[in-house]
Amino acid sequence: MNSSSVTVRAAPSLALIKYWGKANGSEPPNRPATSSIAVSLEGLYSEARVTSAENRDCVILDGREMDGRRYAAFFENIRACLDVKHFYECICRNNFPSAAGLASSSSGFAALAAGCARLSSLLLEKPTPDLRTLSALARVGSASAARAVYPGFVILKANAEAALPLYAPDFWPELRVIVARISDEAKPRSSRDAMEHTRATSPYYPAWLRDSRALFTRALAALERRDLAQLGPLIRASTYRMFGSILAADPVIIYWKPLTLALLEQLEELRGQGLLLFETMDAGPQVKIFCLEREARQAVASIQKAIPELADRLSVLAPGGGLTWPEQET
Ligand code: DP6
Repeated sequence: MNSSSVTVRAAPSLALIKYWGKANGSEPPNRPATSSIAVSLEGLYSEARVTSAENRDCVILDGREMDGRRYAAFFENIRACLDVKHFYECICRNNFPSAAGLASSSSGFAALAAGCARLSSLLLEKPTPDLRTLSALARVGSASAARAVYPGFVILKANAEAALPLYAPDFWPELRVIVARISDEAKPRSSRDAMEHTRATSPYYPAWLRDSRALFTRALAALERRDLAQLGPLIRASTYRMFGSILAADPVIIYWKPLTLALLEQLEELRGQGLLLFETMDAGPQVKIFCLEREARQAVASIQKAIPELADRLSVLAPGGGLTWPEQET
């Protein structure tokens, strides 16, 4: 056992335009079927402390050992790419609920990829791979994690091996995301499993794939102009069209809770009053609301008043994220 260890943090990557489904027959594995646009968020993070191990890979998340099958292809790919033979022991934690639809697999695999690659590079006395390589390594674990190695606004194109940074976080400093933690329970079905089920059984899946191309192009143009009034409806369309394909799967998968719907109804009302509030959701009950800084406080106060159960479950986050190395920052 080698005593070197590496600690790294990554922030979740929240998709404005969604990745849902895998490109067929992709090799290396886990390339996305749709192009996504995302923003990395400040304030939430996954941390991985990685050491080398002799016999087997092991991931412990928030004190619990994870099922090795979920990680096998990821670690094998890292060893093949970096040409190393050793295994990895990874002690991980999130400063937010894991697997509840807050994009913890994006930040988790981004931190794991960076931690493992840096550890192996230290052992080989080589420089750490560049961000593009880390993005490709992270993708094998979770395609959304390919985006989470970069701060700010990031794209991952359909069938791509790695994500591309688009704009730094200060490109749109007024943008905010209100995260409503509807439930802290782990979601009933992982994104990976649910997107494959959608592909295999939903008659709407081909339409989702076709439509997402146009949404991606239009959203890129609206993002370039920092035009939330134009971008917001595209964010909502991507969300509800993704869920449309999931709701048409057989048997159906339902991620939303009554409180999710209560909040969606409230957002509709606040939009009617002229606030620019645009929700997105991932594979879980949580709601994330894009807005501008100047309206965030008013929006939070209105939601708290209308839905008291959410009063202490709302956080306002700014663009940020990317990889940080806490041990080097001291
Ligand atoms: C709904 O990246 O978790 O959050 O690649 O199978 O690990 P795997 O899936 P994952 O899926 C994320 C789906 C999403 C939308 C998105 O983040 O683009």
